[in-house]
Amino acid sequence: MTPQETSEPAVAAVVVLAAGQGTRMRSATPKVLHAIGGRSLLGHVLAAAEPLAAAATVVVVGAGREAVEEHLREIAPAAVPVVQEEQLGSGHAAAVALSALSDIEGPVLLLNGDAPLLRATTVIDLVAAHKRAGSLLTVLTAEVDDPTGLGRVVRGADGGVQAIVEERDATDAQRAIREINAGVYVADAAALRRSLAGVGSANAQGEQYLTDVVVLLVADGAPVGAFVAGDPDDVLGCNDRRELADRGRTLNERLLDGLMRAGVTVVDPSTTWVDVTVTVAPDVVLEPGTQLKGTTSVAAGAVVGPDTTLADCRVGEEATVLRSHCLGADIGPRVSVGPFSYLRPGTRLATRSRVGAFVETKNAEVGEDSKVPHLSYVGDATIGTGANIGAATVFVNYDGVAKHRTTVGDHVRIGSDTMLVAPVTVGDGAYTAAGSVITSDVPPGAMAVARSPQRNVAGWVRRRRSGSPAARAAEAAERRAESPAGDPGHDTDE
Ligand code: UD1
Ligand code: CA
Repeated sequence: MTPQETSEPAVAAVVVLAAGQGTRMRSATPKVLHAIGGRSLLGHVLAAAEPLAAAATVVVVGAGREAVEEHLREIAPAAVPVVQEEQLGSGHAAAVALSALSDIEGPVLLLNGDAPLLRATTVIDLVAAHKRAGSLLTVLTAEVDDPTGLGRVVRGADGGVQAIVEERDATDAQRAIREINAGVYVADAAALRRSLAGVGSANAQGEQYLTDVVVLLVADGAPVGAFVAGDPDDVLGCNDRRELADRGRTLNERLLDGLMRAGVTVVDPSTTWVDVTVTVAPDVVLEPGTQLKGTTSVAAGAVVGPDTTLADCRVGEEATVLRSHCLGADIGPRVSVGPFSYLRPGTRLATRSRVGAFVETKNAEVGEDSKVPHLSYVGDATIGTGANIGAATVFVNYDGVAKHRTTVGDHVRIGSDTMLVAPVTVGDGAYTAAGSVITSDVPPGAMAVARSPQRNVAGWVRRRRSGSPAARAAEAAERRAESPAGDPGHDTDE
C-alpha cells in the first residue's frame, strides 16, 4: 500500500483560486491555462498539492470559466470547479470556495492558480509547520530581491506575523520589506470562514483581499504563522508574458538539473527544453537544440539532437535521432533517424531500422533492419524486415477520397523513384525496377517493371539543336567514335 492509503490526508481540502482575468497577459486564453514545461499553470499548482491527497479539491473559476472547466475535466476530473460570478477579490473567491465545502473541518490549503514553480515538498513543509505550531493560519512567504507588485509580510517586534499589506496600500516603510506573501496558505476551515465574513473592500483596488484575514485573526488573538520557503523561486507568480518566459526557464533549468544528476548528458542546457511529463534514462545524450515534449520517453544510450523535436515519442535504447521533427512516433532500439526526417503519428520503427534524410512517414511500420534512407514519403504502410526502399520512393496512399495501405514484404528491394500506388502488396523477396509505378500486387520473388521502355532518337540534337554546345559535344563524340586512335580526350591519367 502507498503511504497515501495508510495515512490521514494532510489537509481536508485544497482550494485553488483561478477566477482572475489575468489582464496583464493580454490574452484571449485565461491566465491559468497558459503553459510552461508542457503543463498549464493550473496543472502545476494542482500537481504541487496532489501528494496531500485531500479528499476535496475545489477550483474557483470565473474569467474564461468554460475553458478552465474543460481543461479541469481533462487534467483533474476529481477537482470541482466552483463559479465566482464576479471577481470581487481573492477573499471573495476563498469565501465562494468555502461555501462549496460547507461540511469541511480542519486545515484547508489555499493556493493562487498562477504559481507554477511551487513544489510539492514546499507545500508539504508548509502544512507540517502549520500543524507543528498549532496555528489557525500559516502563510507561505519568501525573501525576494525584488518584491515589486507583491503583498508584503509585516511582522511585529516579536517576529510574529501581523499583517499582509498589498503594495498599493503599503506605506514607504512597508514597501521596503522584502518578505512577500506567496499566495499560498493553510488555514483552519472554521477560523477562515469566520474571518472572511469580516473582510471588507476598503483598499486601493476596492477588492476583498484574502490577505486581510491575517490582521483579523491576529486581532482575535488567534495563532497565525509564516513559513519561509527555502527556495524563493517556488513562490513566484506569473502575471505577464515576460514572467511566463522567466518561470518557464526556471522550471526547465530545475528539470535539466534533475536529469543531469540522474546521469543524462545535456550538452547545452540553455537550448534544451524538456516537458515535466517526459522521461529520460541515464546515459542519454541530449545535443543542443533538443525539445522533448508530452509523453516522450528516451531509453538508455540514445542520442537525440542536435536541433530535434520529439513530441509524444518513444525512443529505444541506443537509437539516434538527428536533426528531426517527430510526433507520436515509436522509434525502436538502435534505430537511426535523420538528419532531416519528419516522423508523424503512427510511425513505428523496429529495431535497427533506419529512416534517413528528407523522409516523411505517417502510419508506417518499418520492420527490423529495414531502411528508408533518402527522400521518400511513407504513408499508411507496413514494411517487413530487411527491406530497402530506394531513394525518392513514394507510398501513394491517397486517391483524393480515401487513404489506402501498402504492404511491403521481407527483404524486398524497392528501386529508386518507385511509386507504390495503394492499395498494393509487394511480396517477400520481390524487387521493383527504378522508376516503376506499381499499381498491382507483386508476387514474392518477382521483379516488377512498370515503366515505358526507353527509345533513343539518334542524331536528334545535331538536327534540332544545331550549333548549340550540346550539338558540338555530340559531333565531337561522333568524330572520336569514327577514329578512336586520334582521341586525346579519352586518355587515362598517367
Ligand atoms: C496576490 C496576493 C498578494 C501576493 C500575490 C502572490 C491578494 C489580495 N494578494 O496578489 O499578497 O503577494 O498574490 O502572487 O490576494 N482571484 C480570484 N478571484 C478574484 C480575484 C483573484 O479567483 O476575484 C485569484 C486569481 O485568479 C489569482 C489569485 O486569486 O490566482 C490572486 O489574485 P491576483 O489578482 O493575481 O492577486 P495578486 O495581485 O497577484
Ligand atoms: Ca497574481
